[in-house]
Amino acid sequence: CPDRSFSGRSFLITAGPTWEFIDPVRFISNPSSGKMGVELARAAWYRGGDVTLVCGPGVSVDVPGVRFIPVISAEDMLLRCMENRDVDVIIKAAAVGDYRVATPSSSKIKREGRERLTLELFSNPDIAARLGEEKGESQILIGFAAETNNLDENAVKKMNAKGLDAIVANDVTEEGCGFGVDTNRVVMLDRSGGRFEFSGSKEDVSHMILDRVAVMMEGAK
Ligand code: C5P
Repeated sequence: CPDRSFSGRSFLITAGPTWEFIDPVRFISNPSSGKMGVELARAAWYRGGDVTLVCGPGVSVDVPGVRFIPVISAEDMLLRCMENRDVDVIIKAAAVGDYRVATPSSSKIKREGRERLTLELFSNPDIAARLGEEKGESQILIGFAAETNNLDENAVKKMNAKGLDAIVANDVTEEGCGFGVDTNRVVMLDRSGGRFEFSGSKEDVSHMILDRVAVMMEGAK
C-alpha cells in the first residue's frame, strides 16, 4: 500500500540553474542538472503531497501530478516563489545565480575588434533569505548548500543567515556527489542541532530528506 503520509500537505520545491542573459544568445549559468529538486518533487508527490516545482531552464521534468512552473532567471524564480509561498514546506534545491548582468545587450555582442569585454554584474536577490524573512508560523523552510570546503561550518552559517529550519549540504568536489550526477552524499543539519548523513541515488536521498521533514512537521504541529 503506497505511503500517503504527506496527503493534505503542500510543498514548494525549486530546482535547476538560472540563466542570466548577457545578450540574446549568451547567458551566465552553472552546471546544475536540477535532478535533486526533481527527485524531491517526485518523492513528495509519491507520498501524497501537493507539489509545486519551480524549475530553472534545461531541466527535464518527468513528474506527473506535480504543478510545474518553468522560469529562466533568478528574478523570475523569486517572483514565482513569492506567488506560491503559501505552503507547508519549501525546499530550495535550485542553484540560483548570485549575479545578473547589469545591462544585457538587446543585440548579439560582436567579437570583431574587441580584445577585451568587461561585464558589470549586479547581485541577485537571495530567494531563500526572502522566504525566510516571511516564513509562516509552522512553515518549514529547507535550503541546500553546495560547498567545496568546511561543509558543516559554511552550511550552518547559511542556515542561520537565511532563516532556514534545516540545510542539506554537499561537497561538490567529491566524486558521485552534487552537480549533474545521479547520486549524492549529503549532510542535513537542522536548527535543533540534528546532524544526519545520507548517501545513495538522488531518489533515495530525497526520501531520506523527506523522512526528516516528516519528523520536523510533527514537531511543528
Ligand atoms: O548560493 P548559496 O550557497 O548561498 O545557496 C544556499 C541556498 O540558498 C540554496 O538553498 C539556494 O537555493 C538558496 N539561494 C537562493 N537565492 C540566491 C542564492 C541562493 O534562494 N540568490
